[in-house]
Amino acid sequence: MKKNIQIAIDGPASSGKSTVAKIIANDLAIIYLDTGAMYRSATLVSIEEQTKNSIEIIDYLKDNPISFEKTSVFIGNRDVTEVIRDNEVTSNVSEISAIPEIRKFMVSEQRRIAGSSSIIMDGRDIATVVLPNADLKIFLIADVEERAQRRYKENIKRGIESDLGYLIEEIATRDKYDSTREVSPLKPAEDSIIFDTTGKSIEEVVAFIENKAKELK
Ligand code: CDP
Ligand code: CDP
Repeated sequence: MKKNIQIAIDGPASSGKSTVAKIIANDLAIIYLDTGAMYRSATLVSIEEQTKNSIEIIDYLKDNPISFEKTSVFIGNRDVTEVIRDNEVTSNVSEISAIPEIRKFMVSEQRRIAGSSSIIMDGRDIATVVLPNADLKIFLIADVEERAQRRYKENIKRGIESDLGYLIEEIATRDKYDSTREVSPLKPAEDSIIFDTTGKSIEEVVAFIENKAKELK
């Protein structure tokens, strides 16, 4: 494998991006960046500060930067790891993520974090916008029912009771919003490898991507 590699993992909600990206980052000893957590953090600021004004949200985040430590996400000194997964954030995140100025700010932060290090980044526009020269571009998909089931089980583990029908609706609505927005819509790059993870275990998806990474010259 070459020295510095950039791996982009994109795909719709709950397709398994962050789970597999974390494992691969650990296996390859490279940085992992969860860009969804960054848009979720901006959305939390929007809700709490009661503003959809991009300048106000960005100024707040300049004063209280988003940072990552192991598996935790911080805004300034505050640990927001759990709260950014709340339903209220989830149901507002697509709207905030569609604001061009917010995306511009996030993309520049993401490229700054990537720097010249080896990195695996997951999101919606990593291969198309953030890292268009990434060495490996993977676009994960799975049936919406299976993705909702995965989220349902994940919620149980977090002690949250949810309704499967609601989750299917929420995921389908968010995917539609994300893939039809004008700026950086969710879509594979021309050179992305599309991998259907329906019925596939986490280990199978990790093995597929790591084999592709090994093929990099
Ligand atoms: O984990 P889940 O699939 O629910 O979502 P996420 O990766 O945390 O992303 C939350 C939302 O942030 C997405 O539905 C998109 O609206 C937005 N997002 C984005 O626009 N661009 C990215 N690179 C990552 C996330
Ligand atoms: O980051 P993204 O929203 O794409 O998905 P995730 O948060 O990584 O995965 C959502 C849930 O699906 C997690 O609880 C994973 O453990 C689970 N998962 C799975 O059951 N099978 C896979 N092949 C991938 C993820």
